[in-house]
Amino acid sequence: MPGFFTMKILMVCLGNICRSPLAEGIMEYKVQQAQLNWTVDSAGTNGYHVGEAPHRLSQKVALMHGIDISRQSARNITGNDFQVFDMIYAMAEDVIDDIKWRTGNAYNPKKVKLLMDEVYPGRSIDVPDPWYGPEADYHQVFDMIDKACNKIIEHYALLSK
Ligand code: 4NP
Repeated sequence: MPGFFTMKILMVCLGNICRSPLAEGIMEYKVQQAQLNWTVDSAGTNGYHVGEAPHRLSQKVALMHGIDISRQSARNITGNDFQVFDMIYAMAEDVIDDIKWRTGNAYNPKKVKLLMDEVYPGRSIDVPDPWYGPEADYHQVFDMIDKACNKIIEHYALLSK
């Protein structure tokens, strides 16, 4: 029986086309597996790909793990996301800078965390941007995000049951 505690998580990168769609798909998959009553979404900061489906290599690598992200559509982060979401995970430090710049007065540092801080607290580790890279880079991105999502479930799931 899923609990009534809900976590609303937003995964954010620059384009919302490579990293954060994978993060949304991986987190959503784990949330379903754990039967948690959480909401997961993703957004980007640069707007170049709004309305597009995830990059074909993000889709391919996700599907190799049984996760279908093909129906996602890129959108921009807005100030309202700070009203809606409990935690906003940035894939990299430059993404945090862009979130601040984009959301202005709505920005709330208490809700923003570097994703890899869940695994390696305080070490400022970015999930590298795979945009120009080969498929291997997307596998590396998948593995990093997968580890972080496991930690998020570990940290918060007990509160949710
Ligand atoms: P993402 O990768 O932030 O992981 O979605 C990028 C995709 C596109 C661009 C930058 C990063 N771009 O500038 O178009």
